[in-house]
Amino acid sequence: MQTKVFAVMAALAITPTHAADTSDAAATDRDPNRWPQIESAVKPDEKIEAAITKIIGRMTLDEKVGQLAQAEIQSISPQDVKKYHIGSILNGGGSYPGLKKDARPIEWLALAEEYYKASVDKEDGRIGIPIIWGTDAVHGHNNVLGATLYPHNIGLGAAHDPDLIEKIGAATARVIRVTGINWTFAPTLAVARDDRWGRTYESYSEDPALIKLYGDRMVRGLQGDPRTGSFMQADRVVATAKHFLADGGTTNGKDQGDTQLSEEDLIALHAAGYESALAEGAQTVMASFSSWNGEKMHGHKYMLTDILKGRMGFDGFVVGDWNGHAQLPGCTEESCAAAINAGMDMIMVPTNWKGFIFNTKKQVKSGKISMERLEDAVRRILRVKIRAGLFGRVKPSETPLAGRDALIGHEIHRTIAQEAVRKSLVLLKNEGGALPVKKGAKVLVAGPGADNIPMQAGGWSLTWQGRDTKNDDFPGATSIWSGLKAAVEAAGGTPVLSASGSYSETPDVAILVYGETPYAEFEGDLPDGVIYEDKAMLGLMAKLKADGVTVVSVFLSGRPRHVGPLMDHSDAFVAAWFPGTEGQGVADVLVAGSGDAQYDFTGTLSFSWPKTSDAHPINAGDTDYDPLFPLGYGLTMAGQ
Ligand code: BGC
Ligand code: BGC
Repeated sequence: MQTKVFAVMAALAITPTHAADTSDAAATDRDPNRWPQIESAVKPDEKIEAAITKIIGRMTLDEKVGQLAQAEIQSISPQDVKKYHIGSILNGGGSYPGLKKDARPIEWLALAEEYYKASVDKEDGRIGIPIIWGTDAVHGHNNVLGATLYPHNIGLGAAHDPDLIEKIGAATARVIRVTGINWTFAPTLAVARDDRWGRTYESYSEDPALIKLYGDRMVRGLQGDPRTGSFMQADRVVATAKHFLADGGTTNGKDQGDTQLSEEDLIALHAAGYESALAEGAQTVMASFSSWNGEKMHGHKYMLTDILKGRMGFDGFVVGDWNGHAQLPGCTEESCAAAINAGMDMIMVPTNWKGFIFNTKKQVKSGKISMERLEDAVRRILRVKIRAGLFGRVKPSETPLAGRDALIGHEIHRTIAQEAVRKSLVLLKNEGGALPVKKGAKVLVAGPGADNIPMQAGGWSLTWQGRDTKNDDFPGATSIWSGLKAAVEAAGGTPVLSASGSYSETPDVAILVYGETPYAEFEGDLPDGVIYEDKAMLGLMAKLKADGVTVVSVFLSGRPRHVGPLMDHSDAFVAAWFPGTEGQGVADVLVAGSGDAQYDFTGTLSFSWPKTSDAHPINAGDTDYDPLFPLGYGLTMAGQ
């Protein structure tokens, strides 16, 4: 057998998490000079700054404060946008125009048009600053019916392919623009260091070096290249580097928890993605719900102002996370001078935006928030809006891609996603040449995930947690079963589907598809550890073995799990992560076409796979590193 250890394993040189000094002395021992200085590819522009100065000079207090507010589409009308001079709206995970899960792209566009028109309406004699709409397009435009869903980030990490990342970014941007939206809350640059964290699958890797390789490429795909003139053209969207900083470093992998590290380790482990994403010109940064050594990021002046905006030279704007400001001591959803004073420029205050505006105005009047800080926040927001071309006074409906429904789920995008699925698969075990599935084989496809798009897609897929959906909610998608069926038939074999695994005629091979059911933030945490048990699958494996059937496991998960006997009783074991809507990518690799596999496995682990159920956190570079499969591990079929 042949293993391929990925070349970029800088993680091995990193001080292990365990060595972190969490004493008070470490918390106060801060030095901005330790942090990287970054030069953005998007250069300051005097003309833009002069234009902003002019606009700010004409803005009333209401207009200035309104720019800082970001409200959720279910809680704000276009009339409100106009009346309160709102700077931004978002749709949360699983929020659609009119709360219709099956809203057509044209309905998204129509809503974007209404908000836009309201924002630039000058009827009241006011300036009319165009609104910016943010959405969580984190693996494709995943709130929109029929959109192509790419593998979640953990699978893209296994692909180790920066070019692919940029392609996916560009494809996603195009589809977002079809719906009139111009900003995505992606990429997530988390370096997940404890797989109990429910957002591990949103992380490309435990290895900061890989996050760095991907950070700039995803930003370039989304925003375009500042060096070539594709930057923020009409087929691009504003990107968000999130969540700043160390969302993936929390103790016990607790969502929104506390990351306890020395400043040196914080930089070494969690800053790498920002280095490349900010150098590429990522225009917004989202603050993390989490804390560093007990201090919440949403109120962390040192991190947001001194480091991010000062040392790292970030001149775009910082947006808060969903009511994250309300978690600061002394703050509520409706009132949080501390966040703004710490360096937050736009506050994500989905529902209570009115109270927030009211209180922020009062705080500016009383001097609790200085006019200078307020105007700096407004300047940053306007700078990004101008760079994004929003001041071109072009209605969303008049942009080139607007309403081009055919682009949603377009063949071109499905082809890219299928390639990504192929490259994301990691072969962990392959005994007796179980894979590839041979020409002419009788193949049983079984397990709860076999014909189950929601399970393939995971969280952030039409709904926030990825639950309450069925295959029909993903028109145009291909399940792993339908991909296998086509491939096995093309190879002259006989495919049979049985979710429960029953069969009348003994198959040659059984492909069992099982694993984690969908989850997202908060709900996906595993405080009790990463053990994964499945009695039904184990029982089925025993029966298959007794009948002499070759057992292939295709494991769907958002992180490595300790699967114990499930691995032992499989002849072949494939980590397929959450592959998204293009299930045929799995069949492309598993089934031999004309006798040889058309594609071999090329994916390698971007996360260490644990040997025991309580082996966490486990990361390459740990002094006592003893994984079942190390970072960079992955078999090929040819290497047999
Ligand atoms: C998540 C962010 C997301 C935001 C908006 C938050 O709960 O942490 O990643 O961008 O919601 O949906
Ligand atoms: C939203 C998510 C958000 C979460 C935070 C959900 O209702 O859809 O986008 O992250 O609330 O509480």
